[in-house]
Amino acid sequence: MDSPPLDRSTDFRDSGLRFPPGFTFGSATAAYQVEGAAHEDGRTPSIWDTFSRTPGAVWNGDTGDVACDHYHRWEQDLDLMAELGLDAYRFSLSWPRIIPIGRGAVNQAGIDFYSRLVDGLLTRGIRPVATLYHWDLPQVLEDAGGWPVRGTVDAFEEYAAVLGTALGDRVHTWTTLNEPWCTAYLGYGQGGHAPGRREPAAALAAVHHLNLAHGRAVEALRATSTGTPEYSVTLNLHVARGDADAVRRIDALGNRAFTGPMLRGVYDDDLLADTAAVTDWGFVQDGDLRRIQQPIDVLGVNYYSTVTVRTWDGVSPRQSNDGHKPTVGGTAWPGSDEAVEFLPQPGPHTAMGWNIAPDGLLDLLHSLRDEFPDQPLMITENGAAFDDVVAADGAVHDVDRVDYLRRHLTAAHRAIEDGVDLRGYFVWSLLDNFEWGYGYAKRFGIVRVDFDDQRRIPKDSARWFRELATTRVIPG
Ligand code: NOJ
Repeated sequence: MDSPPLDRSTDFRDSGLRFPPGFTFGSATAAYQVEGAAHEDGRTPSIWDTFSRTPGAVWNGDTGDVACDHYHRWEQDLDLMAELGLDAYRFSLSWPRIIPIGRGAVNQAGIDFYSRLVDGLLTRGIRPVATLYHWDLPQVLEDAGGWPVRGTVDAFEEYAAVLGTALGDRVHTWTTLNEPWCTAYLGYGQGGHAPGRREPAAALAAVHHLNLAHGRAVEALRATSTGTPEYSVTLNLHVARGDADAVRRIDALGNRAFTGPMLRGVYDDDLLADTAAVTDWGFVQDGDLRRIQQPIDVLGVNYYSTVTVRTWDGVSPRQSNDGHKPTVGGTAWPGSDEAVEFLPQPGPHTAMGWNIAPDGLLDLLHSLRDEFPDQPLMITENGAAFDDVVAADGAVHDVDRVDYLRRHLTAAHRAIEDGVDLRGYFVWSLLDNFEWGYGYAKRFGIVRVDFDDQRRIPKDSARWFRELATTRVIPG
């Protein structure tokens, strides 16, 4: 790789930097995290409805039953986005609202909700960026085996065709999957996410079926969308620091298990070798790799922090908490858990305990540019949870979040200067919402949600982001 040496003299806090014309500023949410209305208009339970009712699975026993009540308050939330001057809104579609029994009958009430949402965005001049799968698998499909079985891919392809037909005349960007790493490894390997299974071989089967679901959904969306939407997928790629073999293993399982098939049409030999004791990858069928590798208009990247890893000596007590996600037994890294240690990250940290490292974002964008020079990129999530307080003046002065955003946007700007084809930035999140295993305890919003009365209070970061989105210049 020929990147120019990284100038570490900056602390990535520059203001006054201008983004290029056409750069997209947006905010992101996901259906289960904001919608609520879990039992309304024909929606059936998803795996997160089931998991959040499992004792001990989610902090405080929180569920997404009500969440931000966005299902009823969407117009108000869209007005808020318009006031913030956003170019685009990244949201996800709830599969159990659209096809409640997993296959077959389509629920018109579900389609109508998203149709109104899309129209409401377009009326306000905000581009709809729609994710098909942000972790809320219909429970009936999990009962039939979930992502480790191939039938779920068939169901996803049908779901994609339904959406392409219903919304493909108006959606600006289709995103097939959000962070399949989490679905596969946290959902089926480590068990900290729904459906809470701890089966390493199933996790790797899920990896492949998610990849195949991506490819077949792009095909189905292309065949049915009558507009001219763009196509994308969003990955949480890992920026690992440490010794070469530990970094290589994390890169293989965490990154190349997805970018390999999706962008290069292969599963790399070292990935297959690292996981050989777990599975023989017999679930990969002839022709799958060809269908997975679809041209996409943008690759979505979610970035929050880095990890530091070390090859385990096999003797001393192994450090295993990667600091990233709710920690339970099981393995988030099938085949590498016994070989790699995750070391504590030096601070500063956010309320999630994640280290704040804007240089990691720059390194990630550089490495993607080097590996996939013709692939446009989009930051589809970046943001931070902090323990916000409502001040005596009724406002939320979230200086830490503003600082976090400024540093990461400075890094993004630097990447563009360095020749990275970066098309946009979506802040996670518009609203405080249901933060998966952490329930409502972690607040990522630039708008505060008071969960007692659903009042929205734009934080200082919202004002800061509005200035950015409207001037295209990083505010001071
Ligand atoms: C990744 C996920 O896509 C999103 O749902 C989650 O809330 C954020 N990161 C923060 O953890």
